[in-house]
Amino acid sequence: MESQVSDAAAGQAEQTAGEGQANSGAAPGPAALAPLGAARWKLLRQVLKQKQLDDCLRHISVRRFESFNLFSVTEVKKRETEEEAGAWVQYTSIFYPEYSIFVRRNSGSLNVEDVLTSFDNTGNVCIWPAEEVLAYYCLKHSSIFRDLAVCELGGGMTCLAGLMVAISADVKEVLLTDGNEKAIRNVRDIIARNQKAGVFKTGNISSRVLRWDNETDVSQLEGHFDIVMCADCLFLDQYRASLVDAIKRLLQPRGKAMVFAPRRGNTLNQFCNLAEKAGFSVQRHENYDEHISNFHSKLKKENQDVYEENLHFPLLLILTKDG
Ligand SMILES: C[S@@+](CC[C@H](N)C(=O)[O-])C[C@H]1O[C@@H](n2cnc3c(N)ncnc32)[C@H](O)[C@@H]1O
Repeated sequence: MESQVSDAAAGQAEQTAGEGQANSGAAPGPAALAPLGAARWKLLRQVLKQKQLDDCLRHISVRRFESFNLFSVTEVKKRETEEEAGAWVQYTSIFYPEYSIFVRRNSGSLNVEDVLTSFDNTGNVCIWPAEEVLAYYCLKHSSIFRDLAVCELGGGMTCLAGLMVAISADVKEVLLTDGNEKAIRNVRDIIARNQKAGVFKTGNISSRVLRWDNETDVSQLEGHFDIVMCADCLFLDQYRASLVDAIKRLLQPRGKAMVFAPRRGNTLNQFCNLAEKAGFSVQRHENYDEHISNFHSKLKKENQDVYEENLHFPLLLILTKDG
């Protein structure tokens, strides 16, 4: 049953994310949340009637398009005493193989309770392509982080990009965050395991639940960061404005945000508009890396059945506070 929940949840995630339909942009009231509630009940019904689970839904893979070939992933042998949810793997950069990190991916299945009761689970489904691209970009440009305080928002169950900063850069501080508690419990274990393995360049790495729409979460860290970054976080209509606001408040006056996200309909444009209204100057880059551009062109030509530019090709946005 669990794998079917997983598939269905992933279907929900890709569909929701693809259409940017979680809410219509209005403040999150009961009416605005109704479509999500309905989707969850539909999901539950499908799980309970597993034999009737629609073929199409059942065969939607967690992430239809696999990756831009940026990291190799190898299974780590399970320790005798381990009884853990999710498998440990080693993520190694293909382009910078000296950088490697242990991560635990949640088991790939979400139980019914996870799906129905917890806050947005899209970060517990998989590591999305934009996160891998951000992680690769951080390794490639690790010198830009020297002596800076860096925060990853909405990093999901691994916060892979923030981890890459912490193993490669002479950074002052790295804070890994997400709004989902299960994701952050996993990130906490990942930090502990890699601290034991001695792979971090900085001693100052930590994680916490940080919701963009939670006044206390944001105000405690107001003006603290030189760089705020996130991947694939722009599609949730009801949280887009609070994401812009959180980025603005978390950054120090001369700070910058580095945002990777696919277009996902009009959602990236909507985020740019909100950011400009909030006083950011926004640079938008499509050709930010030769490997990604070449791979993207190849996928568009040869893998049309699984590769959808709108859902999978991350653009890079650099936000700078004006004045
Ligand atoms: C599509 S996932 C991306 C996860 C990760 N960056 C990746 O690309 O693999 C979106 C993430 O945003 C987080 N999120 C959504 N709304 C949020 C909010 N209001 N505050 C904090 N995090 C939020 C979710 O928990 C989820 O982990």
